[in-house]
Amino acid sequence: RNSRIIDRKIKSTDSSRCILKLLLSFCGNVMCLKSSFLSFYSFTQKYPPVKFLSEKDRKRILITGGAGFVGSHLTDKLMMDGHEVTVVDNFFTGRKRNVEHWIGHENFELINHDVVEPLYIEVDQIYHLASPASPPNYMYNPIKTLKTNTIGTLNMLGLAKRVGARLLLASTSEVYGDPEMHPQNEDYWGHVNPIGPRACYDEGKRVAETMCYAYMKQEGVEVRVARIFNTFGSRMHMNDGRVVSNFILQALQGEPLTVYGSGSQTRAFQYVSDLVNGLVSLMNSNISSPVNLGNPEEHTILEFAQLIKSLVGNRSHIQFLPEAQDDPQRRRPDIRKAKMLLGWEPVVPLEEGLNKTIQYFSRELEHQANNQYIPKPKAARMKKGRPRHN
Ligand SMILES: NC(=O)c1ccc[n+]([C@@H]2O[C@H](COP(=O)([O-])OP(=O)(O)OC[C@H]3O[C@@H](n4cnc5c(N)ncnc54)[C@H](O)[C@@H]3O)[C@@H](O)[C@H]2O)c1
Ligand SMILES: *[C@@H]1O[C@H](CO)[C@@H](O)[C@H](O)[C@H]1NC(C)=O
Ligand SMILES: *[C@@H]1O[C@H](CO)[C@@H](O)[C@H](O)[C@H]1NC(C)=O
Ligand SMILES: *[C@@H]1O[C@H](CO)[C@@H](O)[C@H](O)[C@H]1NC(C)=O
Repeated sequence: RNSRIIDRKIKSTDSSRCILKLLLSFCGNVMCLKSSFLSFYSFTQKYPPVKFLSEKDRKRILITGGAGFVGSHLTDKLMMDGHEVTVVDNFFTGRKRNVEHWIGHENFELINHDVVEPLYIEVDQIYHLASPASPPNYMYNPIKTLKTNTIGTLNMLGLAKRVGARLLLASTSEVYGDPEMHPQNEDYWGHVNPIGPRACYDEGKRVAETMCYAYMKQEGVEVRVARIFNTFGSRMHMNDGRVVSNFILQALQGEPLTVYGSGSQTRAFQYVSDLVNGLVSLMNSNISSPVNLGNPEEHTILEFAQLIKSLVGNRSHIQFLPEAQDDPQRRRPDIRKAKMLLGWEPVVPLEEGLNKTIQYFSRELEHQANNQYIPKPKAARMKKGRPRHN
């Protein structure tokens, strides 16, 4: 009976007093524990601010690969814009942690599903991003990469057809292969080796594009195709073997930044928020033909090394190694089409994007240091026995 009286008293007090009472009396009362836990939970469970959209403007959006690097940033934007977002991911290279800040939100749903299996849900738009994206990831299991890009894309186009949704395919600059023209515009047909080590990805994306236009012509499905160029930012993979991640990892760990050759080869990287704005703007445009999304601003490998070294605090030095044989000298998108038709172009300055990425990498390293695991920068893709810049 005593405990019932305490119970009633506690229920009528606010939660802080409840906790105090709990501590004072050690009552261990179940109701008290439960209510203080609930108020603590709803207090800490703060979602990023979300716009309110009327039913007319609010869309049901599916993002495949939404727990990955690009997909999770796209999820953030569409959630904050007030839409209902369903993320479908098999967590091959994605992580629940990338979208954990939305779990439990009424507009958000996370489904553990492989796009190689069919999916039946009701949606208005599909952003189809599911696919491993960096060479070590897509070469890990080439057959699975092919299945994801072919069967997975057929499944998503089938879904789009059944429910009348519009589908945007995250294609890649790799459809241009080892290009014979610079920069590449959307009319270039590409130069791809169908049996080379990158073919599972390059050809997978090429046939995924073909499938989109077959569904458009034969079945009237609305499609959008984004040819995405090199992208960087928080939540990118630390061991993807690309220049930016290698240099940041080396600089943060006080190791020498390794430059192959003279460092005069150039690369162009877009910051992930620029890409996400481009994807959303393409999806909601009326342009069904492929559109390049990338940053045409070129920097030499050496510039990247020096800038990253100085932003991290100059602890490392730059180490020059012999030139790699198949290191492309230039890579740059032609984005005139996106500029003209979407009014889109990258706006985030390189240094700002790098700072944010460095912050993310250093938090991840701290996290991993606590788990006694320090990742080493992966040697870039091996070919003819030599690493090279990606
Ligand atoms: N990041 C870039 O620089 C870049 C460049 C060109 C194109 N892209 C394209 O953008 C998309 C996203 O790339 P990212 O960099 O975010 O890579 P990512 O690896 O971080 O994201 C891909 C996501 O797809 C998921 N996935 C893979 N196979 C799947 C399957 N069978 N079923 C369900 N989910 C699956 C992964 O778990 C991951 O969450 C990819 O389609 C990629 O080809 C990216
Ligand atoms: C696309 O929309 C623009 C205006 O937003 C219009 O001028 C143009 O004609 C449209 N193009 C097509 C192919 O429908
Ligand atoms: C790193 O060194 C460069 C040139 O020596 C200098 O301009 C820059 O301010 C330094 N950066 C930091 C963070 O110390
Ligand atoms: C990036 O970080 C460096 C060093 O922390 C700082 O000096 C610089 O102002 C930052 N630049 C931008 C654009 O945020």
